[in-house]
Amino acid sequence: MKDIMNAVKISEKVYWVGAIDWNIRDFHGYTTKRGSTYNAYLVTSEKPTLIDTVKAPFRGEMMARIASVMDPGDIKIIVSNHTEMDHTGALPETIKEVNPEQVFASQAGVKALEEHFTFDREITPVKDGDRINLGNASLTCFETRMLHWPDSMMTYLAEDRLLFSQDGFGMHLASSERFDDEIDPAILEYEAATYFANILLPYSPLILKLLDRLYGLNLPIDVIAPDHGPIWRKDVKGIVESYRRWAVQAPSKKAVVIYATMWRSTELMALALAEGLSGRGIPVKVMSLDVNHRSDVAYEVLDAGILAAGAPTLNNNMFPSMADVLTYLKGLRPQNLIGAAFGSYGWSGESVKQVEAALADMKVELPGEPVKAKNVPGAEELGRCRDLGALLGDRLLEKLE
Ligand code: FEO
Repeated sequence: MKDIMNAVKISEKVYWVGAIDWNIRDFHGYTTKRGSTYNAYLVTSEKPTLIDTVKAPFRGEMMARIASVMDPGDIKIIVSNHTEMDHTGALPETIKEVNPEQVFASQAGVKALEEHFTFDREITPVKDGDRINLGNASLTCFETRMLHWPDSMMTYLAEDRLLFSQDGFGMHLASSERFDDEIDPAILEYEAATYFANILLPYSPLILKLLDRLYGLNLPIDVIAPDHGPIWRKDVKGIVESYRRWAVQAPSKKAVVIYATMWRSTELMALALAEGLSGRGIPVKVMSLDVNHRSDVAYEVLDAGILAAGAPTLNNNMFPSMADVLTYLKGLRPQNLIGAAFGSYGWSGESVKQVEAALADMKVELPGEPVKAKNVPGAEELGRCRDLGALLGDRLLEKLE
């Protein structure tokens, strides 16, 4: 790979030396339609420093990119900002090959790294506010616990006004371009929001605290270098503002109707409910779980004010694809939703109660009565679905006033 894979200079002292994973389509349950990148960075300071590594199979690509700038054996320091294996899979072998003087991680990071791997040396713990001396530069450490692992930290290179933000401000997007200003803004917005919805949403309160802290410190930041996707150099302010907006989880005038269906009965109910919402002027996204992945639903729910969910009963339970999505959404802890349950059944009909309980468990406000239809919904049941949609729409409009 040497002479083919090159590093990309991203600031005075820093090169991107990561890897592009064009083909990954499932990232622990999150569908990554556009692949991803594992970003590692080489700081060419007096003490050359590697920030994070890559997923294990991509180590050769990272080493080739480093070798395009310097002999990897000259690296003196490695910093691990986040223990998840897409950034540390290559770490043990890299340490062996490079033989750095020191390897740093947060205190929780040291523990987590040692629980994941076997190292031939001690990892040095750093704590919030510590400075790592790179000779003619330094890295300031910001612990960002639970964003999104207990070990997570960010590091700031004041000399280049650059924040290494690990997963924060990242996205799953494989591309030959490395910077935000080289990529269609609509793709950036979609993939950054999808990443936030699927990875960071549960930690929204911590994100708001982190943003307040960064603003309070008044750090000049020209570049945000995340561990996935493009590097922010044009719209640093824009992505930070988007994070604040998403983390606040203020509902917008939008409804998401998700449904599973066996013989189209629940689908007809979903369509009737969507008609009721539209009649109140609420834009609706109708999503069959046959063709929409759980991570697509998470993306749509991010800025929605309404989540209605419908499932038929199969063997005394809600249809499995709905159980999958509701379990996933519950873990993401969306806030401020209004919702309703509906569904069809043949004889026992447990699903609607189960869906409603799952929504209640997610703290979704449920202002109306759920609608059940035996076998095939008739005009009466479809009318009730339409009325339920209108009721949800009215409640959302009242809330948004
Ligand atoms: Fe990209 Fe949390 O790992």
